[in-house]
Parts: sequence; structure tokens; C-alpha cells
Amino acid sequence: MRVCVIGTGYVGLVTGACLAHIGHDVICVDNNEEKVKLMKAGQSPIFEPGLSEIMQAAIQAGKIQFTTDLGAGVSHGDILFIAVGTPPLPTGESDTRYVEAVARGIGANLNGGYKVIVNKSTVPIGSGDWVRMIVLDGIAERQKTLVPVGGGRAEEKLPEITAQFDVVSNPEFLREGSAVYDTFNPDRIVLGGNSSRAVAMMQELYAPIVERKYAEDQSLPPVPVLVTDLSSAEMIKYAANAFLATKISFINEVANICDRVGADVTQVAKGIGLDSRIGNKFLNAGIGWGGSCFPKDVAALIHTADDYGYEAQLLKSAVCVNQRQRLIAVEKLQQALKILKGKTVGLLGLTFKPDTDDMRDAPALNLIEQLNRLGAKVKAYDPIVSQSGLRDGLTGVLVETDPERLADGCDALVLVTEWQQFNNLDYAQMAKLMNHPVIIDGRNFLDPEKMVRAGFQYIGVGR
Ligand code: UDX
Repeated sequence: MRVCVIGTGYVGLVTGACLAHIGHDVICVDNNEEKVKLMKAGQSPIFEPGLSEIMQAAIQAGKIQFTTDLGAGVSHGDILFIAVGTPPLPTGESDTRYVEAVARGIGANLNGGYKVIVNKSTVPIGSGDWVRMIVLDGIAERQKTLVPVGGGRAEEKLPEITAQFDVVSNPEFLREGSAVYDTFNPDRIVLGGNSSRAVAMMQELYAPIVERKYAEDQSLPPVPVLVTDLSSAEMIKYAANAFLATKISFINEVANICDRVGADVTQVAKGIGLDSRIGNKFLNAGIGWGGSCFPKDVAALIHTADDYGYEAQLLKSAVCVNQRQRLIAVEKLQQALKILKGKTVGLLGLTFKPDTDDMRDAPALNLIEQLNRLGAKVKAYDPIVSQSGLRDGLTGVLVETDPERLADGCDALVLVTEWQQFNNLDYAQMAKLMNHPVIIDGRNFLDPEKMVRAGFQYIGVGR
């Protein structure tokens, strides 16, 4: 099928490359020329395991193109994905101006055959109908610019824009760091819309994935496809993320109680996770959830509830627990070192989770800020983020080039991100280089006994 993906951020590019990989003819549109140049050369602007490989294969097979020309994209695609960012505004609402600009642009370029416009961006509930309205506005604006056919007074007739389209909501559930894997091995596909023609086209698009042709385990039954109305599909995305975030906040709260009563949250999580009604996933206690999705989506859902006169108390509490949890490492440092002023703290990991270079809403940012405020010097080591790769304006942290340089002269270490390689560092050597060999394991990732043998005072979260 002919597909156009507008916006080549993490969701758009992964979607485009994976659809090309399964044989569709894809064109990806982005207004950033530098990025388009990079992608044409087969390079991914984001770090996502396996992505550049499938991009390069699709380029070679002639299945994917990259352009800044929205008009070319719109005329190419029978299915048009809107996959631009919806960053949070200070109020917690999503900033939908990029979606609006794209929808208007689609309208201004529509002409000819039937198109399915797909909301892939996480948009506020109700956006399906709103996108339809903006596309129609785009068509009307273009109509105004057209010159009458023939130009003469006698034939004051405008050429007709024949635009037939439907809007579908198709939320993504990709995790950063395993987005390609998740695309080929989804738990479910959600399609929201009231046009059976559009839904049928989406089902055809995803058929190879539904039949698990690209799955790790091809013997599994087909992927469930849930067809709903527009608002329910939009709500599913928010509710799924809010549930997962709340589940983590729940176990973090349990961890804080474990700390006080002397129980071990990792054993408690195992014990409750074996109950199939609870499940064992997303029960790792630590320094809280971050990233580009959970904080933004939970805030947006709270805001939507407010807009409709409902106070989402449970979700607000999940956010409160998370805000407090991000600073739990500072409390533990104060207990271990007492005065932090003049001390040096080394952070192992900066990104909000492993296997990504993403620092959006990462707990490390709150730690750096709070430690600086208390007069501590902060150093860090991350397998991917270097000093030059730090986000503009982020100060107060010196990024070292290896873990031993990080440990040198530190009064304590905090494991912030559970990168696999942090299991195999030479901790005995690192302990020797430190003023106080204290380690706060912010992800309950390390083996406490091994750390004690290496010479560390080990402090976990709720364990
Ligand atoms: C999430 C959702 O999982 C995905 O379905 C959605 O499309 C986007 O948001 P992502 O943000 O990539 O994906 O990361 P995820 O692996 O879900 O982790 C989110 C945060 O929760 C991270 O900060 C992680 O460290 C934290 N987390 C996760 C925990 O603290 N404990 C856990 O048990 C699991």
C-alpha cells in the first residue's frame, strides 16, 4: 500500500521504516532539511536499536523515501499518518499546534482519491473530529486561492477539489529502546473510527504484522485487533500509560513502606506479581518514571478530566508519589553522608531508561538540580550521553568518559539508569578510587552482596 508518514520523530520514523520493511511504499515527510538529508543517507537521527538497519534495507529496496515536501507526501499516500510531536504545555495540556499545522497542510494538498488520515500522535481525546474539521478548513482555504476555470466572467466557476477522506485513531504503544521489536510484536492493534472503509484499509496495512510474519515467535495466534470509536481509541492510549505509571508509583510507595519496616520490595513484588490478576511487569521499584510519554500523558489525562469537571485524584497521587520518588536518592545520600555541601556525587546513567539517548523528563535532571542546590558537585557517566550531547542549557554536571574516572574522588555513586553494562563494572577498583564507597542503587539493579564484597556500602530502594 502507499503510505505517507508526516513527522519523523521516534514514533513516525519507526512506523515508516517498519511499514516499508513489510513491503509498503512509504514516504516520510519532515520539515527539518538536515534530518531529511541524514535519513536519505540511511542514518537514523535517534538512537533506537535495529532502526538504521531496517531503514537502510528499505532504502536499498526502494521502499522508503524522505522529503520535506508535504504536497508530494500527500499525493503519494493512500494512508497518511500524522506523527508529529504533542509536547506538554506548562498547564499539562498537550500542545497540538504541530498536529493542527499538518492537518491544515494535508487539507491544502488533498486532491483526487480517497485517503485515510491516521492520528498516530498521542492527541487529546476528541482530536479525531477536530482533525477532520481542520483538514476541511485547509481544503476551504485552498479553494479560496484557486482561479476560476477559464478566467473569464462568463465562466466564473472554480475547479473542484475532490477530497474524500476519513480520520482514524491508531495509537502506538512503542517503548523507546525496543520500538522496532514492539512494532513487529505488538500485544494489540487499536483502530478507532466510524468508517468501515478506512478501518478495512488499516487492517490490510497491518495484516503481515497481525499474522505475525515478522514476529519473534511466529507460532503465536494472530495479534488482536480492537476496532472502537474514535474517542475510545484515544482514551485507550492515555489509560494504558496512566495505568502503567500508577502501577510503578504503587510499587514505589510500597518500597518506601518496606524501607521503614525492613521488608524487601523485590521479594514483595515477586510475591504479588505471581498473582495473575496483578502480573509481574512494571513492578520494579526505583527512582520513578520519566521519559517522553508517561509524564506528559498522565498530565494530559488529569487536565482533560479537569476540563470535564472531574478531579482525577488517583492520577494526581501517582504524579505526587513520582515527584517525591525522584528525590529519594538525595534523602538516602543525606542519611549516608549527612552534609552534602562540598561532597561529590557520581551518577551512573543519565537517560530516563536504558537503551535510549533520551533524557526527556529523566529523574537524573531532578537529581542534578537538587544536589547542586544542596552544594554538592555532580559528575556522571552514561554509555550514550556525552558532555557535548547534553541538552542545551543543562548545567551543573560534568560528564566523564568512563566509570573509573567517574568514581575517582566521589563521596557516593547513584545508579540512575539500569544499563546492562553497569552489572559488569570493576566495582572493587571503583571503590578504591572513591572517598566514601557508598552506592545508592536507584533501580534495585545491582547484586547487594557483590557490591558489599567490592567494598561498597550498598543502599537500595525498599530493600
Ligand atoms: C512507555 C510505554 O511503555 C509505551 O507503551 C508508550 O507507548 C510510551 O511510554 P517508554 O516511555 O519508552 O514507553 O518506557 P517504559 O519502558 O515504559 O518506561 C517508562 C518509565 O518507567 C521509565 O522511566 C522506567 O525507568 C520506568 N519504570 C518502568 C520503572 O520505574 N519501573 C518499572 O517497573 C518499569
